[in-house]
Amino acid sequence: MPTGYFITLEGGEGAGKTTLLTHLARKLETLGHPTLTTREPGGTPLGNILRQLLLESDRLAPTTELLLYAADRAEHVSQTIQPALNGGKIVLCDRYTDSTVAYQGYGRQLDLDLIQQLNQIATCGLAPHLTFWLDLPVETGLKRAGDRAKNMGQSLDRLEQTPLDFHHRLHHGFRQLAEQNGDRIARLDATQPPDCLATAAWVLLTTRWPELAQTAQSRSTPAQP
Ligand code: TMP
Repeated sequence: MPTGYFITLEGGEGAGKTTLLTHLARKLETLGHPTLTTREPGGTPLGNILRQLLLESDRLAPTTELLLYAADRAEHVSQTIQPALNGGKIVLCDRYTDSTVAYQGYGRQLDLDLIQQLNQIATCGLAPHLTFWLDLPVETGLKRAGDRAKNMGQSLDRLEQTPLDFHHRLHHGFRQLAEQNGDRIARLDATQPPDCLATAAWVLLTTRWPELAQTAQSRSTPAQP
């Protein structure tokens, strides 16, 4: 069965993941590569309901929150991600298991081994082939997220309103993950303007998989990651 490419984007609030994901997807689609963009929480109909609950509920118990993210992921992997990969697609996913380690593990300080086990159950062991970590100072990210919410006439969601030390802890968590998984996680300096960030990500992506820089038609056989 052909296997696609599973790429995740990770980072704290306001890091620019969604903009980068849109840019990469456009570029890959222009070259004719079948691409699926998705996100967590919220990559399935159930996930959208869970996303609303998670981002808008006040005072969810940390374990409840953890289990809801795991439920979202289990549904997402089985209904969306794995079928797309089985069909040979490039899956670009806005957040995945590293977010749970950073936010619920380092941020909420839940047990890291338990999170590891839950991630394993929810994903059936499906790990990304490549993860971009958009590294941005916490204060810069929160300012960007606040400005974005203001421009759209929205209030900040629950997680963006949590205390600063929570955001510093999760930033530290992402750094630890990047150090421990150097072969999978590529750090990107997210203080760069979006165009430069997109170029840096594209260079990393096509250095790893040169076939993605070519048009899909010019690839004779689907390459395996
Ligand atoms: P975002 O996708 O717009 O960044 O919002 C998703 C929010 O959910 C963000 O604050 C991070 C949070 N989150 C977790 O806390 N744990 C997780 O496992 C995931 C996927 C997201």
